[in-house]
Order: sequence, then structure tokens, then C-alpha cells
Amino acid sequence: GPGKKAPFGFTPIDPVPAGTDEVVVPEGFQWAPIIAWGDPVLAGAPAFDFDRQSAAAQAGQMGYNCDYVGVVRTRGQNNAVLVVNNEYTNNNLMFHDYTTAAAMTDDQVQITMNAHGMTVVEMSRKNPHSKWVYTKGAPLNRRITAETPFELVGPVRGHDLVKTSADPTGTTPLGTFGNCAGGTTPWGTILSGEENFNGYFTQPAVPTDDLVGQAAKRYGLAGGSKSQHNWDRLDQRFDLTQEPNEAHRHGWIIEVDPSDPTSTPRKLTALGRMKHEGANVVIARDGRVVAYMGDDERFDYMYKFVSKAKYRKNDRAHNLTLLHEGDLYVAKFVGDGSADGEHDGTGQWLPLVVDGESKVDGMSVEEVLTFVRVAADKVGPTKMDRPEDVEVNPVNGRVYAALTNNSARTPAQVDEANPRANNKHGQVLEITQDRGDHTRTTFTWKLVLVCGDPNDPQTYFNGYDTSQVSPISCPDNVAFDGDGNLWVATDGNALGHCDGMYLMPLEGKHKGHLQQFLSVPAHGECCGPLIEWDDRVVFAAVQHPGESDGATTAAPTSTFPYRGNTQPRPSVIMIWPEAKGGHGKGHGKGH
Ligand code: FEO
Ligand code: CA
Ligand code: CA
Ligand code: CA
Repeated sequence: GPGKKAPFGFTPIDPVPAGTDEVVVPEGFQWAPIIAWGDPVLAGAPAFDFDRQSAAAQAGQMGYNCDYVGVVRTRGQNNAVLVVNNEYTNNNLMFHDYTTAAAMTDDQVQITMNAHGMTVVEMSRKNPHSKWVYTKGAPLNRRITAETPFELVGPVRGHDLVKTSADPTGTTPLGTFGNCAGGTTPWGTILSGEENFNGYFTQPAVPTDDLVGQAAKRYGLAGGSKSQHNWDRLDQRFDLTQEPNEAHRHGWIIEVDPSDPTSTPRKLTALGRMKHEGANVVIARDGRVVAYMGDDERFDYMYKFVSKAKYRKNDRAHNLTLLHEGDLYVAKFVGDGSADGEHDGTGQWLPLVVDGESKVDGMSVEEVLTFVRVAADKVGPTKMDRPEDVEVNPVNGRVYAALTNNSARTPAQVDEANPRANNKHGQVLEITQDRGDHTRTTFTWKLVLVCGDPNDPQTYFNGYDTSQVSPISCPDNVAFDGDGNLWVATDGNALGHCDGMYLMPLEGKHKGHLQQFLSVPAHGECCGPLIEWDDRVVFAAVQHPGESDGATTAAPTSTFPYRGNTQPRPSVIMIWPEAKGGHGKGHGKGH
């Protein structure tokens, strides 16, 4: 197998065949769930029971399909708050009697609304070597659902495009859903991307001829489809034929302050509206903060926001406003030719909004931000292979983007940053800002990982010997440990393996030596990697275990996390070293 030398403190696991319903970790490591769908979060919430679900219970319990994982320390090293996105629901796996969305009871429809959003729980551990345990009913615990009031902030607040009959001021949208990846800010808030929000709306089949209609097509909001889970049955705002502006109140980056459960979460319009994968913030040398973002759709773009105001170390109230106002750019990548053996080149951040003014002909600032895809189309950015998580490496200061796949790219559409037609496996792109300055608009770039079967000559592992690396497919989330090693989590392995998590050094003699650390259960996606390498603790969200085409409740392909449940339950897990002298075999359904 690949890399038996274990230079990083673990021996890589072998790829696990698709459909295997196990969590597999390296020898000497153990895993355990921290919180699963339905576990009680708020005081008074009942214990989960598949056969006694209710909307009221779900509103106080952990939501479904966890994705982003943020951990913010509260008191010392052994107390923290865990913040998790709940992206979407698999109704056929949630309800024993599920047949079709239309046949769901009103209470089931409401359960799905309450299972979306975010879950915030306090957790603690005895010492840095023990398991984190969440606390039911702790003071900071919170559920945010598809109906929680938000405040719209930034340039689009109060604009005509976001006014509805329920909110004629255009300031207080309700709820968040489709939340995918995210980021934890230097001031301790959590950012989360509203991604596939379009499917929750009943859509007009024939868009209008104006900018609004043109944008509706560009955002997948004009196909005439019916509101997913029938949410419009309970609330007319999910029917765009009745409430056309409601869609403009979703598709933003949201910011949640986990230190104050009474705070109103915000939607940040200055960062633009798209199918946001997530956003990650870095403090630039001059004190302004920069957020890097991906718009997760085939042939869509990468963006960055540069704040107007500067970070102030001991002024949290001020820092909480940093993402309200600033400049917005979209990325263009120019290759220098692949004959040099590398997919690399130079690039530019093309301006969309600068100093409060639109840089796009014929569009106001509010229009550019609300319809940023339409605005970006006019300035010539590079069409990417589904930009997902984009994050700055805190050790080397470079930016890393997961480009997950793009099976629709044709040979004529290939470019050096997206070098493969029918790209099933994806790539990881590295950006080096000129002079290491995140506010600058010029950079160089390089693909550090072109995923797939290492025996395929089109793959590239940063120059490393491909006979020594793990196969990898469909990178979705990136993270870094304290040594600056890149960690990658995957969604949708196209090599016949389960999804998982991988480590790849970016410097030194093991640069490019990709090694698999984790494999997740059948049909699950590996999300939210968070690496606390000083303690050698890794957090992961196991999303949609058991999800597969045509799945029915009669025979779920997964019963993760194996606590006697008949159906799978999406869960946040931790992976950490066994105590010295332990002798676990490193995989299986234990714990
Ligand atoms: Fe929800 Fe872009 O993956
Ligand atoms: Ca994702
Ligand atoms: Ca090149
Ligand atoms: Ca994904």
C-alpha cells in the first residue's frame, strides 16, 4: 500500500470500496460521534426517537446533514462551542413512512424546515486526550432553522430587490438553508454559505425579460420546478410566483456569533449573492480583512472581498461590522503553458465593486451584489470546475481552493487551471498573492493536486512519486494543521471508493505525499474537516450516510453511527489517538 513509512504519525489507510458502511481510521486512532441528527440541543428537547418525531422536537434537536464544523474555545482548552451547518435533508431516510414529498404531512414538512440551518452546542472534555462531550441545554446552545429571523446588512439592505409583503423594509429575511461550507473568523464568529437555495422555491417557468428574469435563469430560479419538500405549502414566501423577491434574500454568506445565543444572525450582502460554498477570512498586512469564496456550480467563479475598515485587536463590536462594507473581485487565471510540466501561471482579481462604486457597466452596486453572477459574466473571469472551499494556509499564507469536478467541460473548454475535459476527479489550486499581500489584485497560481487514480498520467501530486500516494477524487473541503499541511475532504468519489479525508504536505521532502487518514460510511460525504494537530484531534462531519439513488427506507445502506438505530443519522465525529497501550484495530463500527 501507499506510504507505509508513516512520516506524519499515522500509517495511511487503504481506500475502502464504495458502499462499505464503516468508519475507517489509521491504526492507533479511534473515533466517536459527538452529536448526531436528532440529539437534544435545547433544554426540554426530547431524546431522538425515529417513530416519535415532531416539528417541535426537531426545533430543539440537532439538524440533519451536517457540513461545516467550527470549534471556538470558550474557557481554557477543555471547553468549547461547536457550530455545525445543517445543509439539507434526506426525507426518505428520515421518515419510515416516506413515499413522496407531496405525501408528507404538514408536520413532516415542518420537521424538514426545522432540520435545516445550524446547530450550536457547548462541549467539554476532561483533558486534551479525552473525548469531547456536548452538553444538552447549555447556555450557548442554539438552533437556527429555515425560519429564524436574520438581519440583512451591507449595501443591499433595504433595497427594492429584497422587499417582500412580509418584510416591506427589506431588512429581516427569515431562515437559512442549503448551508454548505463556512469559516471561523479571527473575531470568533462563524461564516456559512447559503449554497443550493434555489431548489427550495416554486419557480416561474417563464422568466421576465429584464435583469431580474435574466438573473433568475443564471441562478437556477426559473425552471418552473416545485418547492423542494413542499415548503410553499406552509409558507407562501417559498412560491416565487407569489413572492418574487424572496429568492433575493437567500444565497448570501451569513455570520453567526456563537458567544451570544440571543444575537440576530446576519446576511452579508457586501460579499455578493451566489451559490456560496463558504467564506474564509484572513487579516491582511495592513489590517483590512479579506474573504475568499467559491461559487459552487460548474463553470462558475472564485471571488474575494476586501473590507474597507481594518481589524482592531480588542474591539469585537467593531470587528463584527468588518464584513458590512468593502470591495468585491472575481478571479481570472492565465496559464503559462503546460509544457513546463506544471499547470500554473498568473492571475488577476477583476473588480466588481470598489470604493462603494460599481465597476460593471449598466449595473448599480445593489444589482452587482444581488446578481453577482450576471455582473461577473460581463468582466471575463475564468470559468472553473465547481469552486468549493477556498481557504488561506495560516503557515505559508497561500490560498488553496478545492475544485471538485466538472463532467460537462468539453475539450474545447479546457484551460490550464481547469486542464481536463469531462473532469470527474477535480483538482486543488494554490494562489500566491503578489508580495504575499491579500489585498493586491495580482497573483501567481499553480495546481498542487490533480486528483484521480495515481496511475493515470493526467494526475499530479505536487511532483511526488505517484506510486507512493493514496488515490483521491472530488476534493470539496480544505483545512490545515499547525504545520501547514493541507488536509482535503472529498464528496463524490468517482474511483469506486468511499469518501474520506487526506493529508498532503506542501513543503519539504514529502511535498505532495498524499495519504488517506479517514474513510466515511456508505454513500456519505466527508465534510467540515477541522484539524487540531497539537492535540492530534480531527473533527469531521459525516453528511448524508445512506444516500444513494433510489434508496428506500426498507433497506438503508447505512446505520451509521451504529448506536442501535435502524436508519443512518448524519453526525459530527472526532478522531483521536488511542491511549498508549491501547490495541484497537483502527476501524470498524465500534464506539
Ligand atoms: Fe454543498 Fe458545494 O457542496
Ligand atoms: Ca461542500
Ligand atoms: Ca505551466
Ligand atoms: Ca460538495
